[in-house]
Amino acid sequence: MSEPFPTCYLDGQYLPLREARISPLDRGFLFADGVYEVVPVHRGRPFRLREHLRRMDDSLAAIHLANPRGEAEWAAIVQRLVAEAGAGELLVYLQVTRGAESSRNHLFPAQPRPTVFAFASPYPAPSAAVLERGLGAVTLEDIRWDRCDIKSVALLANVLLRQEASNQGADEALLVRNGILLEGSSSSIFLCVGGMLITPPNSHLILPGTTRDAVLELAQGWLPSQVSDIESRDIGSAEELWIASAGRGVLPVTRVDGEPVGEGVPGRLWQEMYVRLQQHLDELAPTPAL
Ligand code: PDD
Repeated sequence: MSEPFPTCYLDGQYLPLREARISPLDRGFLFADGVYEVVPVHRGRPFRLREHLRRMDDSLAAIHLANPRGEAEWAAIVQRLVAEAGAGELLVYLQVTRGAESSRNHLFPAQPRPTVFAFASPYPAPSAAVLERGLGAVTLEDIRWDRCDIKSVALLANVLLRQEASNQGADEALLVRNGILLEGSSSSIFLCVGGMLITPPNSHLILPGTTRDAVLELAQGWLPSQVSDIESRDIGSAEELWIASAGRGVLPVTRVDGEPVGEGVPGRLWQEMYVRLQQHLDELAPTPAL
């Protein structure tokens, strides 16, 4: 995320981000015992906020923590941070942890007091060079746990994988388990093979992406799509490969492990999808967040 805006939300208060304080005994800090969401905002309007909040519900249920805010309260927090940031193109980050205790204890506290934190930052628009030339990626063995469907703040494996990709001069790591290509270190993936759009099925091994769902919906009626396993060797026969996330939209990957994907340039289908996603965002009603 780019440099954040000065105001954040912490446990019921809006305050300058530089003044926000969290206990070192917060379980998010000690155990990565928490979950998060990243909500994209276009022209001041949150995109798919309901879907992000539902996924947060699912993540919280999976870690046995009651959601400390209702849907309308979350929407109000997002709206306020968007307003404080002057609307426009943003990413709003939401995080809930199991809160702080008086000592370090692996067991859940009997009465947790969750920490709720949120802030907005500018949307990092893709550069002209990325849109013209596409991204580079490397395939790496997926070293994460087997509950990748939980949007957990425990991102150490993702961080290590993304750094390894960067060390190899690439923009994203494409994660492979037993020869099956699952997703990027912080993105969903799509392959175009024989004019068919293919994305891996949701399971415990990937995050159910909100942008992925939007792309699948936008494909309806013009681009045949299929949800099925992808083998890493299928990249060799793909015409196009895309990554998709709240933070990056949908972007073309034109090189994998040093080899060109298809013709090695952003593909025709990606260009069409990019335009359709942009139009879809432009058409968002300028009404309440939900
Ligand atoms: N990451 N898969 C992983 C592992 C992710 O971390 C993300 C998003 C996605 C795409 O999900 P969505 O389209 O809902 O953003 C898939 C966020 C943006 C992040 O960690 O910053």
